[in-house]
Formats: sequence, structure tokens, C-alpha cells
Amino acid sequence: MLTWNELEEACKTCQKCKLSETRNNVVFGEGNKSAKIIFISEAPGEQEDLTGRPYVGKSGKLFDKIIASVNISREEIYLANILKCRPPNNRDPLNDERKTCLPYLRNQVKLIHPKIIVCLGRVAAQTIIDPNFKITKDHGRWIERNGYYLFATFHPSALLRDPSKKRIVWEDFKEIKRKYDTYK
Ligand code: URA
Repeated sequence: MLTWNELEEACKTCQKCKLSETRNNVVFGEGNKSAKIIFISEAPGEQEDLTGRPYVGKSGKLFDKIIASVNISREEIYLANILKCRPPNNRDPLNDERKTCLPYLRNQVKLIHPKIIVCLGRVAAQTIIDPNFKITKDHGRWIERNGYYLFATFHPSALLRDPSKKRIVWEDFKEIKRKYDTYK
């Protein structure tokens, strides 16, 4: 297992997949390194690639509002993606890219050692929880594995496309907050 410094350096100089050729910046992840809760999303988008920071674009702004609505602040959480580099035109991450990049995220999770891991969207849930995970059917339930509580809900971009999902996501975040409060 690498230390934070070693890991960040390894990610920033990574050339293990082709995304390294098209990225502007590696989006390593950021937040509280002793967080009890970590949110995992799929991959950097355009704004994230340009700034090197996770969740700063439209989806990120909505995410900030959602966590604020259940009294969770960015300062207390850690935010990371399955992929550290942006796929061109925001296409879905390829299986190979996920496999290659995942050890970095696993290392981050081991260093943080959170109680709760929340997957945002299908790609994160299928990578972390179960390859057959159906986000519409399987969101909103806790799965205990290796001492972590895993949970998935919709990606904020799904809400931007379909605002009728707001209610469901709000219920999911209330549940996340309820569980989180037991570890704070
Ligand atoms: N969408 C993601 O999945 N991750 C980000 O960091 C930003 C947008």
C-alpha cells in the first residue's frame, strides 16, 4: 500500500491507459482524509479535467446542494471517482480502464478507512458493489462487506436529466445521513 504522497504522485504521472494521452489533469480526489464517509462517482467530466478537482461542474454543484440539504458538508467527506482521468466526450469508462484505475481508489479507501462508501450512479455501483447492480431497482439499500457499509444512489447527472428522480434521491440521502450520524 502506498502512502498519500506516493499515491498522489503515482496517479499524477500515471500512463497506464490511453486516457493519460487526452487528459488535461488527473483528478485524484479530495476531502477529509479521516472521513467516515466517502462518495465515489464514475469519472471526471470537462470541468473536473480542466481544474483537477472532483465534482466542480454542473453535477458537482447539484451534489453540493444535495449533501447540504441533509447537513453534510464537503469538508467532512472524501470524494473520488472510479477513473482519475476524463474519458473523451464523457463516454462510459471501459472495463479495461476501470480495472487499471481501481487499485488507486482501493488504496485511497484503505488509507481513509471510512465506515460508509456511497456509490453515485450505475458505473460506480457496478464497479464497487456488483457487476449486475441495477441502479433503479437496487439503490437505497445497505450492503455490509469487509467492515464497510456500501450504498448506491443515482448520479446527480441523472437528476439533471430527469428531475422526477429528486424525491427518490432525497429519500436515499436521508437514509445515508441517518446511518452516517451513528458513526459521527
Ligand atoms: N461526474 C463524475 O462522475 N465525477 C466527477 O468528478 C464529476 C462529474
